[in-house]
Amino acid sequence: MSSALRLDQLLSRFGYCSRREAVGWLSAGRITREGEPLQRSDQRVTPESVLIDGQPVEFPDGLLVMLHKPIGYACSHDPAEAPLIYDLLPPQWMRRNPGPISVGRLDRETSGLLLITDDGALSHRLTSPKHEVEKTYEVTVSTPFPDGLTELFASGTLTLRGEAKACLPARLEITGDRTARLFLHEGKYHQVRRMFASQGCPVTALHRSAIGALTLGDLPEGQWCGISAAQLVPV
Ligand code: URA
Repeated sequence: MSSALRLDQLLSRFGYCSRREAVGWLSAGRITREGEPLQRSDQRVTPESVLIDGQPVEFPDGLLVMLHKPIGYACSHDPAEAPLIYDLLPPQWMRRNPGPISVGRLDRETSGLLLITDDGALSHRLTSPKHEVEKTYEVTVSTPFPDGLTELFASGTLTLRGEAKACLPARLEITGDRTARLFLHEGKYHQVRRMFASQGCPVTALHRSAIGALTLGDLPEGQWCGISAAQLVPV
């Protein structure tokens, strides 16, 4: 159960209206508890205990969803980079405070599993190499894989141009002539594309299929669904 907060704070925290506008929402009887309208903006309530326009507050404990990111969308809040992954989420979420952020990023040309939360600490935990949450990538390349690639990626000795530290050991499974699955425990900038490109093997398609034990299942491209923190167990 979330903690109690003032009704005007609740309405602005969850993106319904500003604290100033809350007075109008309350006097119009739009917020009810057990069928009774609540009128005082300084009354403290838990988000789970009220209905707003007859509906429960969405994600009262904080946002945690997985999004099946399509190619072509940027992981950014900058409108100049549109279309944005946030365009695929309910507009009201953008007015929540704190608002949604992606847990790490996928390139515009990468598809797949992306986590969205409003919990900065959770995002940090999931992206920090210290916590070793494994990410699985399905990779397609344009030229045959060079000999020894699996061993090189596993060795922890590959240092990408411009990086001070070598990549952490990564498991590579060659699944076809030009396809492979790569398991990473970190997320350097454009890491997968750079790892393959450094060995003369440009990536032509990239899809993230899992984070820890969490997979997209049959979630269609462009759609999101709520998940629980318990689903984010490491593999
Ligand atoms: N590595 C990349 O190169 N791109 C991504 O989007 C994710 C990992």
